[in-house]
Amino acid sequence: MLDLLVVNATLPDGRQNMSVAVRDGKIVEVAEGLHAPAQEVLDAQGQLLSPPFVDAHFHMDATLSYGLPRVNQSGTLLEGIALWGELKPLLTQEALMDRAVTYCDWAVAKGLLAIRTHVDVCDPRLMAVEALLEVKKQVAPYIELQLVAFPQDGVLRGSQGPQQHMDNLTRALDMGVDVVGGIPHFERTMADGASSVRLLCEVAAERGLQVDMHCDESDDPMSRHVETLAFETRRLGLQGRVTGSHLTSMHSMDNYYVSKLLPLMAEAQMHVVANPLINITLQGRHDTYPKRRGMTRVPELMAAGVNVAFGHDCVMDPWYSLGSADMLEVAHMGLHVAQMTSQAAMRQCFDAITVNPARILGLPGYGLAVGCNADFVLLQARDPVEALRLRANRLKVFRRGRLLAWSEPAQSTLCIAGRPGKTLLQP
Ligand code: FE2
Repeated sequence: MLDLLVVNATLPDGRQNMSVAVRDGKIVEVAEGLHAPAQEVLDAQGQLLSPPFVDAHFHMDATLSYGLPRVNQSGTLLEGIALWGELKPLLTQEALMDRAVTYCDWAVAKGLLAIRTHVDVCDPRLMAVEALLEVKKQVAPYIELQLVAFPQDGVLRGSQGPQQHMDNLTRALDMGVDVVGGIPHFERTMADGASSVRLLCEVAAERGLQVDMHCDESDDPMSRHVETLAFETRRLGLQGRVTGSHLTSMHSMDNYYVSKLLPLMAEAQMHVVANPLINITLQGRHDTYPKRRGMTRVPELMAAGVNVAFGHDCVMDPWYSLGSADMLEVAHMGLHVAQMTSQAAMRQCFDAITVNPARILGLPGYGLAVGCNADFVLLQARDPVEALRLRANRLKVFRRGRLLAWSEPAQSTLCIAGRPGKTLLQP
């Protein structure tokens, strides 16, 4: 007897009338038209069954703090960092945990079941680290959290010398933070930025950890720390374990230099996370017109064989006042900014919020195949492109075969003579 049998589902690869059989939290069979005894049978009615959404780049220590202690007037990245510096001394562990757990509720409702979050380690109390480690434990039954030790103010820029923030960062890793972060473009000089990349990659290599750096989140085409990151990845044998996040300066680099850079990144098996909602609003703020978009070169990176994900980055915090844990909204923006409008490219955008970030986090048992965890989302859409177009309603969210969230089908009632009484916004 199966625990759960989903029938008549469409899968992201286009297969229709598919059944997915679940026992003991695992997928035990995936076959067309399969019927078998089960405790519960769910008729998907031809809708899309997707593996859960994954966010490879978020800041859970700052989320839902919008307006505290004031709003970002200029809308720039630098004012956001300054504002976060004003907020940090006012944070309490309890309030931070409350906001983070509330965000996890939103995430589950939107079928987002794995999140890599950066956590600021520049506060010597490491209060945010303690809080998010506790949240990670608390939400483990329904969300997989991965933490990155992120020196927001620059790992070499401590007011008490270059060792101050590095000491905090290594203490955070000792406490159980999973991944080594960095922010080379925010160090005092280009040389310090390059040193920070080297030192942080060495820490990761010594400890057998992954690296995920905020790298070149700048409009300066000469911000080329990604080159150093690719170099250190190879030098230290970290291939496949290093992620460059943001990489917005690549938008402004000249094409000749990028033609050399892309193969270096592919050779180092680097992963990339673009954060379209945030960087389309933060970048190009010093431009008049023409105004740069600032998102990194997503289709070109994908064509070069680099694994690229879209991240949410921020929701209602010093950098971004909007957002709702909706990864389809993130991919929808990414698709527009990157002009990825072919059918194939739109499907790549769907991959960039599902399978691609799952590779970055190294999630075991992710996917809709036999032997994978029974984690999936039933969307009110017939294929990945329609899911993106509609930012589709999440009808059911399952983890390990257990229902975590559901919503009523979305439809509007029309009151127009001679027209149908309802519309689902589908042709
Ligand atoms: Fe970020």
